[in-house]
Amino acid sequence: MTSPGRGPVPAAKTVTAPDRGSLPVLVARGLTKRYGHVTALGGTDLTLRRQEVLAVIGDNGAGKSTLIKCLSGAVVPDEGTIEVDGRQVAFRGPLDARAAGIETVYQHLAIAPARDIAANLYLGRELRRKGFAGWGLRLLDRKAMRANTRELLDSLGLLTIQSLDQAAETLSGGQRQGIAVARAAAFGSRVVIMDEPTAALGVKESRKVLDLILEIKNRGIPVILISHDMPHVFEVADRIHIQRLGRRIACVPTADITMPEAVALMTGASQPGPEHIQD
Ligand SMILES: Nc1ncnc2c1ncn2[C@@H]1O[C@H](COP(=O)(O)OP(=O)(O)OP(=O)(O)O)[C@@H](O)[C@H]1O
Ligand SMILES: [Mg+2]
Repeated sequence: MTSPGRGPVPAAKTVTAPDRGSLPVLVARGLTKRYGHVTALGGTDLTLRRQEVLAVIGDNGAGKSTLIKCLSGAVVPDEGTIEVDGRQVAFRGPLDARAAGIETVYQHLAIAPARDIAANLYLGRELRRKGFAGWGLRLLDRKAMRANTRELLDSLGLLTIQSLDQAAETLSGGQRQGIAVARAAAFGSRVVIMDEPTAALGVKESRKVLDLILEIKNRGIPVILISHDMPHVFEVADRIHIQRLGRRIACVPTADITMPEAVALMTGASQPGPEHIQD
């Protein structure tokens, strides 16, 4: 289209609001984290789609936990960007990420050893009493927290804990891990991240965690699962992100790769091709 003397007139653009439905929930680009001479992350990317379980696999020291810590605010990257629902974020600490709906089960569990189970579950988001006792005197609603904790643990069928009054330090490793998983499942509203959630669990409890991961996904919340357990990964993941020497070298639908192929890429026995990055 042209108008006399003015040159071409651009056609009117239809501006549509970004389609949230197709937007990835979480996108990280070029994340870099150095500790002195050690490069834990050397410019890694990650994309988490809606309604998926994304497994992150890689050898020891590949940067999986550091990547997760950047996404959960526990580590501030030296370089790179993170977007949540299309908006760039700069988490200064784990509370920022939690406020954005990202809950994380860390590989090395962050629990308060001397506090009881309900206190650990509600750590940082304690329920206050109603009325002035709550907002004025800041009194905690311990009764409600205990009742909710008991209900949550029963409904997950995850724990073999005998008394809610037990201090976390007296729990077994697997029971502690169960609490961390329960906490993430209960409070994750946008993304749930689990770094080796079954490492300390028995066969039965691991099964529960895998079921829980699928249940969280079915609730519409995507999950990032870091695991060395290949059968677990291949059972629950929709896509597999392979981390090697601080970078993402592959990201493929689980259906497009076999276990030996994934392990070969992970260990460097085979080299990734362009078909191995499918964001
Ligand atoms: N706080 C730190 N100080 C120094 N080096 C660190 C620190 N955290 C991580 N690293 C180093 O960064 C690299 C990546 O570590 P990271 O914990 O992210 O690996 P990972 O893939 O989670 O390994 P694993 O499978 O053993 O859990 C390793 O070489 C590690 O030694
Ligand atoms: Mg790790």
